[in-house]
Amino acid sequence: MEIEINLAEPEKRKTFDLEDLPFGKIFTPHMFMMKYDIKRGWHSPQIKPFSNIELHPAAIVLHYAQTVFEGMKAYYGVDGKIRLFRPWDHIARLNHSAERVCIPKVDPELVFNAIKILISIDKDWIPKKKGAALYIRPVIFATQPNLGLKVSDEYLFIIILSPVGAYYKEGFNPVKIYVTDEYIRACPGGTGNIKTGGNYAASLKAQEIAQKKGYTQVLWLDAKEKKYVEEVGSMNIFFYFDNELLTPELTGSILPGITRNSVLKLAPTLGITVKERKISIDEVIDAIKKNILKECFGTGTAAVISPVGEIYYKNRSYLINHGKIGKITKLLFEYITSIQYGEKEDTFNWTITL
Ligand code: COI
Repeated sequence: MEIEINLAEPEKRKTFDLEDLPFGKIFTPHMFMMKYDIKRGWHSPQIKPFSNIELHPAAIVLHYAQTVFEGMKAYYGVDGKIRLFRPWDHIARLNHSAERVCIPKVDPELVFNAIKILISIDKDWIPKKKGAALYIRPVIFATQPNLGLKVSDEYLFIIILSPVGAYYKEGFNPVKIYVTDEYIRACPGGTGNIKTGGNYAASLKAQEIAQKKGYTQVLWLDAKEKKYVEEVGSMNIFFYFDNELLTPELTGSILPGITRNSVLKLAPTLGITVKERKISIDEVIDAIKKNILKECFGTGTAAVISPVGEIYYKNRSYLINHGKIGKITKLLFEYITSIQYGEKEDTFNWTITL
């Protein structure tokens, strides 16, 4: 399928100061859009000036949340080249998410091509500062007007681009996380392992409580026993104790994070033993008390690698590594970001230079 291209007026394409960027509040002048209907399948892919969209008030997505999304990044390298980080893995995950909520799959080649063209048109919007990037947000949602609960016959697929800085206001400084044993994010057989809007909506109540108490994010426990650590919602979680890097194994209710997977592949090459297994919250708290839990960090596309300096559980707060960034966390952060910004050779073939 050929992508039709309509460019925005030169006046609307002017960039501005990309120095101190917030996360996800600024958008580039163009977007990709493609429609689906049951007769024609995916059709009419186009790149057009960024604009609001029109949606029928009975569109299925508004009522029953039939939608999936992705988050990936393009980096402006030290060599002036633009690199995408593991785009094919993100596109594969988009289709995996789509399948779970009965959204028709998209052609990976077409999506990759659309991203490439979109970035080449809006390349001046890629921030040049290390730590900043161009966040790419593909989203697919059900547009058929229908108040009956059913699989939609119509969809819209949109890709928007946003120059971003750090996800957390703390930047690379340690964040504080709050363990909730009141709410759950996802359950076995549910949708916790895909990127669908409902998972994020379900996490907001606990996040609000956590933030009111001064914590940045919520650390979720498993739904069945409220015993095992799962993820943070906007990132996967890693613990370093007893000279081992541990992360919860993928049980079906945890998002298979691409940065998580990168850490699992990278760590052993740096001499770090890494394991995926069930980790109970009691084990974590016990390890903090015994001073054998040396480091904790989260991983995610938006969050990159974020050190965790404090954990709140059952009315008590526990400092990790005196609330400071740990050595392993720093090493992994620096290694992955060096690959992303083209400072280090990408021996994993994770990046695609545009
Ligand atoms: C990402 O890390 O890309 C995500 O989609 C998480 C979101 C909460 C920003």
